[in-house]
Amino acid sequence: MIALAGDHGGFLLKEEIKKYLDELKFDYKDFGSATGESCDYPVVSKPAIQAVATGVCEKGILFCGTGVGMSITANKTRGIRCVVCSEPFSAALSREHNNTNMLALGGRVIGVDLAKMIVKIWLTTEFSNVDRHIKRVSLIE
Ligand code: RB5
Repeated sequence: MIALAGDHGGFLLKEEIKKYLDELKFDYKDFGSATGESCDYPVVSKPAIQAVATGVCEKGILFCGTGVGMSITANKTRGIRCVVCSEPFSAALSREHNNTNMLALGGRVIGVDLAKMIVKIWLTTEFSNVDRHIKRVSLIE
């Protein structure tokens, strides 16, 4: 189950990515916002971040204007490794090397097609599970 959350800056992209996740047959839970109205990203993202941190959801995708505020917020929570990403190379490597469990996207930064490419690569790339990366990820904690 993929946790989703977005503020007004990421609302439209969140709605597009929901349709794409339907196509890809990934289950998701949208923790809001349910409208494109102005809201505070540290508040609206909290339930989705908690769902990933507690293992209720396996991964999460956050949406705001740049992805920056969401990623800073998410990375304050123990156990969350969130990458803010605008291109597929970092999306893949963030999974292989860093075992990221959250992805933050900027609705004002990237277009829908690029976002879809990033989401697909991020969701389908596995952690490399080699000793040096296991050690480095554990050193973060
Ligand atoms: C909202 O205007 C904007 O600041 C927010 O969506 C996000 O980009 C913050 O990092």
